[in-house]
Amino acid sequence: MSALSYPMPEAVKASARLNPQTYAEKYQQSIADPEAFWAEEGKRISWFSPYSQVKKTNFAPGELDIQWYADGTLNACYNCVDRHLSERGDKTAIIWEGDEVDVQKHITFRELHEEVARFANGLKKLGVKKGDRVAIYMPMVPEAAYAMLACARLGAVHSVIFAGFSPHAIADRVNDCGAKVIITSNEGRRGGKGVALKPNVDEALSGDACPTIEHVVVLKHTDVDFDMHAGRDVWWHELIGDCDADCPPEVMQAEDPLFILYTSGSTGKPKGVVHTTGGYMVYASMTHEYVFDIKEDDVYWCAADVGWITGHSYIVYGPLANGTTTLMFEGVPTYPDVSRIGKVVDKHQVNILYTAPTAIRALMAKGDAAAKGSKRDSLRIMGSVGEPINPEAWEWYYKIIGNSKCPIVDTWWQTETGGILIAPFPAATDMKPGSAMLPFFGVKPALVDNEGKKLTGATEGNLIIEDSWPGQARTLWNDHERFEQTYFSTYKNVYFTGDGARVDEDGHFWITGRVDDVLNVSGHRLGTAEIESALVAHEAVAEAAVVGYPHDLKGQGIYVYVTVVDGVEANDELRKTLVQWVRKELSPIATPDHIQWAPGLPKTRSGKIMRRILRKIASNEYSNLGDTSTLADPSVVDSLIENRLNR
Ligand code: WT7
Repeated sequence: MSALSYPMPEAVKASARLNPQTYAEKYQQSIADPEAFWAEEGKRISWFSPYSQVKKTNFAPGELDIQWYADGTLNACYNCVDRHLSERGDKTAIIWEGDEVDVQKHITFRELHEEVARFANGLKKLGVKKGDRVAIYMPMVPEAAYAMLACARLGAVHSVIFAGFSPHAIADRVNDCGAKVIITSNEGRRGGKGVALKPNVDEALSGDACPTIEHVVVLKHTDVDFDMHAGRDVWWHELIGDCDADCPPEVMQAEDPLFILYTSGSTGKPKGVVHTTGGYMVYASMTHEYVFDIKEDDVYWCAADVGWITGHSYIVYGPLANGTTTLMFEGVPTYPDVSRIGKVVDKHQVNILYTAPTAIRALMAKGDAAAKGSKRDSLRIMGSVGEPINPEAWEWYYKIIGNSKCPIVDTWWQTETGGILIAPFPAATDMKPGSAMLPFFGVKPALVDNEGKKLTGATEGNLIIEDSWPGQARTLWNDHERFEQTYFSTYKNVYFTGDGARVDEDGHFWITGRVDDVLNVSGHRLGTAEIESALVAHEAVAEAAVVGYPHDLKGQGIYVYVTVVDGVEANDELRKTLVQWVRKELSPIATPDHIQWAPGLPKTRSGKIMRRILRKIASNEYSNLGDTSTLADPSVVDSLIENRLNR
């Protein structure tokens, strides 16, 4: 296989930090002596007291231990805000672009400091202190970043809950981490419409559903009013009304938790991925600088949401630690029309654009209209994240949005990795559409077969990482055993990513997608088990099985098999009800694409559902089902094939 390759554009080559040789040398150093390498790189962060220990990590069974810079002390908020005041006080820290075209705001580092410190003092008044957990359920407004940074300033552990999640999902996350305060907004705005948030919080907290919550802080972002619960709810502006901007940052140990972020796994409830302070800040800041080849005057725009890890590492912590101007966008790429992204790029003279394949495909579906009305000549580098980018979308992004002069950094990473692990760093390498290419410094990716045997040469297998890097998650909140079990038990002495990958004859990495029961729908990570448990919670559903199938726009679509309880009529009406039910129980991002009625599901004699078969039927590849001899009742399969929906 010889992949089409694009050279790094000349202008980028001339100004980039790296070239193939400097990349190779630095990578070699990082692998040969990680201790010395990270001791040096750790200095990019400001420490209150320096570290003498650097790396103390062990992936061995029963001895799992991940510590970086353990005896150093620092504060993440100080690194993102205070330390820039002397040199960059008047520089724009955040550009906010609202949902409507003519709504925007510029916030300097000095203003950021004032906003964050005042809000931190407000949280203090509510009793928030070091080690407490605070949930954040906010639209894409600067206050979402203020809230995160204010928590970090106090040493409180934030847990951002994506604003698209429903009341049930909020309650689960709040209860798992025992949050004391939840910060929200009356409404967000997306695509010209208001999105009610406060009512979702009220519903999540109704009765005594979330007993640990003492207060709800509500930002008044739009003119819509909702009831405030006396004694519990407090307006953001009233809370900070008498607060000043004097709020000394708490001194934190490098291994104190900075935040929890819930993500989906292949089984059970969402996992509270825990990131700590020192290693995470070093890694987020360093990867941001190298992957996007950041220059001092760059305007950088990551079009993700702060509800996901991309928003944490590459809208807030990475860029602000580097003193970079970061753009936050409240709206959607298709409002008022598909030319919006290009127009925002021109208006704010954006140099770096980081977005997801699903957004690119949505724009591409409208022909070249996305390029109308903008020049996009300020762009220098463009990124992609969240799912494999198909070569067609890659080329469209490259030619139409980037005018064939901006490299695309296809960044592979995960909530658990804290930062980017594999990418085509400018200008370390040529680019191959669809390939994430090369590991970041200190990162040792490899492939293993299903028995854990390491594979070499050009081949395909399960993607593992052989040694620790500073940005790695340390545990799952309240469930260290599950952490060990999920990532360190399938294959011994390595971190298992859950992804499959291919390495080509040049040693470049191609991510092929999840090898577990995790779906990637429009770049959103969803566990099939989560969707199934939402479905079986409905009284009409006896059993449900959820699988993914290839979807042109979303990457993967959601295909559901449902067995109804005896006596219930399986009709279109019920189908609609179940679709609404999942949206309400979990989130609109989990909306089923197909619901097939299944009088029976293919099971082994021991009762295990054979998802391999269900996946094939959903993908319309039913002619080659492989071995079905272990099925308890093989006739079930014929009936499912006959009534399949994705034709
Ligand atoms: C999963 C992690 C990384 C931040 C956003 C998603 C898939 C992510 C790529 C890429 C192919 C990718 C993987 C991974 N993924 N980036 N560039 N190419 N696949 O974080 O929600 O934790 O999801 O997203 O399958 O395991 P996440």
